[in-house]
Amino acid sequence: MSLKKIVILFSGEGSNLENIIKKLHQKSVIVVAAITNNPQAKGIEKAKNLGVDVVVIDHKEFDSRESFDAKLVKTIQDFEVELTVLAGFMRILTPIFTDHIKAINIHPSLLPLFKGANALERSFASEMKVAGISVHEVITELDAGKIIMQKCFDKSNMDFDTFKKRIHECEHELFPNAVLEMLAAH
Ligand code: GAR
Repeated sequence: MSLKKIVILFSGEGSNLENIIKKLHQKSVIVVAAITNNPQAKGIEKAKNLGVDVVVIDHKEFDSRESFDAKLVKTIQDFEVELTVLAGFMRILTPIFTDHIKAINIHPSLLPLFKGANALERSFASEMKVAGISVHEVITELDAGKIIMQKCFDKSNMDFDTFKKRIHECEHELFPNAVLEMLAAH
């Protein structure tokens, strides 16, 4: 049986991108490409080092969110993938994208809490005893699509660096499984 194709979108460090490629690429899926809006993203090197092509679509070269999204959609459709995986992709998407692309996103909080920017910092600063991460389907409303998987942990007495490390550990454990579950279900 041939492996299903995915594309991964990212904007920065790319630790989730790297983790998914290492765990799944050419084993359970084919990562046909990684796409970034940021020509300086550290993840570019990481993907290339693991043999995955990178496409840069710099959002600053477009005069509207819609024209950027149209280019993104065309690029993704040309790859003929089953699923688009947003791994730290820091752009707000319009219906041009969400109406045409089946995508999942990872978010560093227990949704529906702490939607939007700086979720990790706001979750850390909150009075809650627990924190966690969510993988959800991408819809037009920000961080509001159906939740696919979540993982939580006790954050009492954690300093910020330990908290951040724990968030990333949870993400790296959960996200590849969520990708596989989503592919199996569709
Ligand atoms: C991850 O923590 C992810 O949850 C977050 O960006 C980080 C990317 O890290 N995404 C969001 O905040 C989306 N709103 P990475 O580049 O090392 O994978």
